[in-house]
Amino acid sequence: MASSVLLMISLVVSTLFIVVSASNFYQDFDITWGDGRAKILNNGELLTLSLDKPSGSGFQSKNEYLFGKIDMQLKLVAGNSAGTVTAYYLSSQGSTHDEIDFEFLGNLSGDPYILHTNVFSQGKGNREQQFYLWFDPTADFHTYSVLWNPQRIIFSVDGTPIREFKNAESVGVPYPKNQPMRIYSSLWNADDWATRGGLVKTDWTQAPFSASYRNFNANACIWSSGSSSCSSSSSNSNAWFSEQLDSTNQERLKWVQKNYMIYNYCSDVKRFPQGLPPECNMS
Ligand SMILES: *[C@@H]1O[C@H](CO)[C@@H](O)[C@H](O)[C@H]1NC(C)=O
Repeated sequence: MASSVLLMISLVVSTLFIVVSASNFYQDFDITWGDGRAKILNNGELLTLSLDKPSGSGFQSKNEYLFGKIDMQLKLVAGNSAGTVTAYYLSSQGSTHDEIDFEFLGNLSGDPYILHTNVFSQGKGNREQQFYLWFDPTADFHTYSVLWNPQRIIFSVDGTPIREFKNAESVGVPYPKNQPMRIYSSLWNADDWATRGGLVKTDWTQAPFSASYRNFNANACIWSSGSSSCSSSSSNSNAWFSEQLDSTNQERLKWVQKNYMIYNYCSDVKRFPQGLPPECNMS
């Protein structure tokens, strides 16, 4: 008797949880700029950004997070997207902010997008890695994920890790771990640098440009009035909080870095004549 009541309660609780955690852009995000160019559609299941000559558009999460595993599906500007940038990132506020960046640099029809990544800690970035993708990111939705825990930041695409930034405090590199971050995204014109270093300009006859978002999922510690939802022991048992790459994923990361990475600050010895940043020498 008692156990069936318990079972019922747990069914009710888990049902509630599923409802609450289903992706809904109305619930999790605010459109912040673009004067009507950003839209939430299909009862909150879909968000679209658009860009024309007068303006781009953008949105941000209602919550701030301090650590998490965060997934979003994006479908990027199709056709001639040269000059456009779709940015999807986490950031805290202020001059010593932390930031974890995905930026998608558009291109002429048929030429490859560049996925640009960066990590800022305490206001300092300069940690770029850039990639081509192994699929056309405009043909369909793909999942772009950030795992951010106290030991590492892992960028993944459709579950394949493309970059790992390890906590290198032991060699004097600040690590993002004290400043809660919001999720931001925007679609904007960056034709002064984005495509072939600024050589190819945005073709405004193709406007409006548009990118779409769906299936947001955050397995994350929510920060609210000075404390974290992960302070309670139950949520601390989340596997992502101590997740690392297993040997299979280390191989996949190597495969991406070997075949698709087109820029790595850690190999740019010309840029750092005094020596590569210390985190580059960690295995
Ligand atoms: C655009 O295409 C050119 C030519 O294939 C390539 O060199 C460049 O890396 C591509 N991506 C961007 C964003 O410029």
